Amino acid sequence: MYISKLSLSNFKNHHQLDIFPCTGINAIVGENGVGKTNILLAISYLSIGKNIFGGKEEFSIMDEASFLRIYAMIDFPEYAGKEIELLLNRDRKKTIRVNGKIQERITEFIGNIPSVFISPYDVNLINETSDVRRKFLDSAISISANTNTYLQALVRYTQNIKQRNALLKDFQKHRYFEESQLELYTEFLSKDYEVLSKKRIEFLHILKPYAQEYYEIISGGKEKIDIIYVPSFDLDNESLEEAFHTHLQKDLALGYTSVGAHKDDIIFKMNGDDMRKRASQGQQKSFLIALKLAQAKVVLSQKTVRPILLLDDIFDKLDSKRVKNLIQLVQRDDFGQIFISDTDEQRILALEDSCEVPLSIIHLPIIG
Ligand SMILES: Nc1ncnc2c1ncn2[C@@H]1O[C@H](COP(=O)(O)OP(=O)(O)O)[C@@H](O)[C@H]1O
Ligand SMILES: [Mg+2]
Repeated sequence: MYISKLSLSNFKNHHQLDIFPCTGINAIVGENGVGKTNILLAISYLSIGKNIFGGKEEFSIMDEASFLRIYAMIDFPEYAGKEIELLLNRDRKKTIRVNGKIQERITEFIGNIPSVFISPYDVNLINETSDVRRKFLDSAISISANTNTYLQALVRYTQNIKQRNALLKDFQKHRYFEESQLELYTEFLSKDYEVLSKKRIEFLHILKPYAQEYYEIISGGKEKIDIIYVPSFDLDNESLEEAFHTHLQKDLALGYTSVGAHKDDIIFKMNGDDMRKRASQGQQKSFLIALKLAQAKVVLSQKTVRPILLLDDIFDKLDSKRVKNLIQLVQRDDFGQIFISDTDEQRILALEDSCEVPLSIIHLPIIG
């Protein structure tokens, strides 16, 4: 599956833009601020139905315009021609049409055009607080699952933790808490924790070999990486119920629950060290690319179509060897059409020799 035509109207800084991507690698080249990332964002918009970076949807509409339109002609190797059109108005009315037919449920449309967006912001996964990593894990698991058991457990768990925390907060005010109430939450939370922790560990177990393989390819086998689930208590030797008990005095003093699924973390390691401490920016970047590609591999292994890769400013801080290795990797059968943004045309031209798929360069701004 690939996009053979993309038209943007009033999408961010693009008043009217028409491009005709090739089936292989499409490099979008131009100076800072010309709208390279915006093109990738528009493609991912068709994939997930919203802005991947979040924020108010109407910010995607060009200043002073009243609507935006993203149009794509999707071609499959087997059969040609599926037209996708997304319209968004200032009053937040969103319409998606497939071959002219309005999609009543946008949620059902989502996922038809799978894509992976790799951006400089991915570094937050390493450097930010644990909630960023949990969010990554939770969403990756939810998307890849065939049932919504995980998501349901997560929603229930989150609600019950809120209630438990409220009870603990109450204790700080009144020096009293309803013990039976606390026990009830313990029971609910323990049950759901079992589902959540098991799935998370299982998911990382599947993800890790791919991430390791991809990292090895990108780095040329230089460093060993590892991804470890770090529970917030001694999971090997106690249950969450026991941990709640052990931590009760602490939790009462804090006014919130200090152990559980909402406190567990993931640690990324390189040659045995925490990646935050040791890894260079280039190494971190290579790892994050490997991680995201691995996630795509796992998430999309159920689906028959290969995901479109959206690689935003990916080469920055990578040495030329790694760039070459990466290009070899993304051309493999696991991935589909590729869009790359870069300010440096020379870097793209240097890839021509290592390209086995078509390479097309799109210069921005497009004049005329
Ligand atoms: N709603 C909008 N209307 C008009 N221009 C916008 C809007 N949102 C963002 N832009 C412009 O888009 C440009 C940034 O585009 P971007 O794709 O990030 O550039 P690049 O990736 O090429 O550096 C900025 O000049 C910004 O002002
Ligand atoms: Mg950019």
